[in-house]
Amino acid sequence: MERLVDLETLIQKGKMKVPYKHRVILLVYLDGEVFAIDDKCPHMSASLFPGKIEGDVIYCKDHSLGISLKTGEVANQNQADFMRLDEYSRSVKKYPIIVKDGVVFLK
Ligand code: FES
Repeated sequence: MERLVDLETLIQKGKMKVPYKHRVILLVYLDGEVFAIDDKCPHMSASLFPGKIEGDVIYCKDHSLGISLKTGEVANQNQADFMRLDEYSRSVKKYPIIVKDGVVFLK
């Protein structure tokens, strides 16, 4: 398991970017759950971190592609169709998370 951040810190901030190997993981605390996805929009690689969260979907600030925090899949397929994203560009990597003793770990 890889230690990412103290849960209390994430709760206070709501969302955080955490470097992991050669990637950046976006951590989001939402309704008592922690979600972790790549902080990289599948459209043109913008950071998802500044995006607006509605329900369990984060919307990229650049062109409003929505990514489900629960699945990492594109949530608004019509936008993906409009952008002509291929099937490989309709999701981001989702990471399994464990919270133990007040610390968020990557499984
Ligand atoms: S870069 Fe995210 S929607 Fe275009």
